[in-house]
Amino acid sequence: MDLKDSIRVIPDFPQPGISFKDITTLLKDGPAYRQAIDELKALVAHMKIDVIAGPEARGFVIGAPLAYALGVGFVPIRKSGKLPFDTIEVGYDLEYGKDTLAVHTDAILPGQNVLIADDLLATGGTIATSVSLVEQLGGVVVGAAFLIELVELAGRNKLSGIEVVSLLTYED
Ligand code: PRP
Ligand code: MG
Repeated sequence: MDLKDSIRVIPDFPQPGISFKDITTLLKDGPAYRQAIDELKALVAHMKIDVIAGPEARGFVIGAPLAYALGVGFVPIRKSGKLPFDTIEVGYDLEYGKDTLAVHTDAILPGQNVLIADDLLATGGTIATSVSLVEQLGGVVVGAAFLIELVELAGRNKLSGIEVVSLLTYED
């Protein structure tokens, strides 16, 4: 099936000019969700991955099933104040707004090969912040995988030197 048919596009959400890609319609459709994860698995099959890291919240619904499919662990990158153990944190700008992401200091071991996964690559701020957190822990980012890439926002330019794969691309 064409997975774009499973994604609902909402104009002017959460603010005028933003064309929101609503993945909840894909997630609730079992065959579509499975196909998306299976296709992402194929896109990263050539990478040597020890662990997947995904940023809260939508990165969990892509990264965790992909980790399960690959038989590797999953590391949650969370918004500030949610993780109970020692953390490192990095602040960043979003397409609309600001936020801070955090990860446990023992979540990734030095030298581990890490794939970062998220639902959407827009400006790249979230993923660049995730890369920074992983690299501060000594992890080696071997790739970044997305369900959707908003090409016009050129987020992949923030990820130079990292292989970026995305399943679906949109021009706006
Ligand atoms: C959304 C989306 C990506 C990010 C992409 O997350 O899930 O993580 O924005 O934008 P960027 O490339 O410009 O950083 P959001 O911060 O809205 O939070 P959520 O995943 O918790 O819904
Ligand atoms: Mg997100």
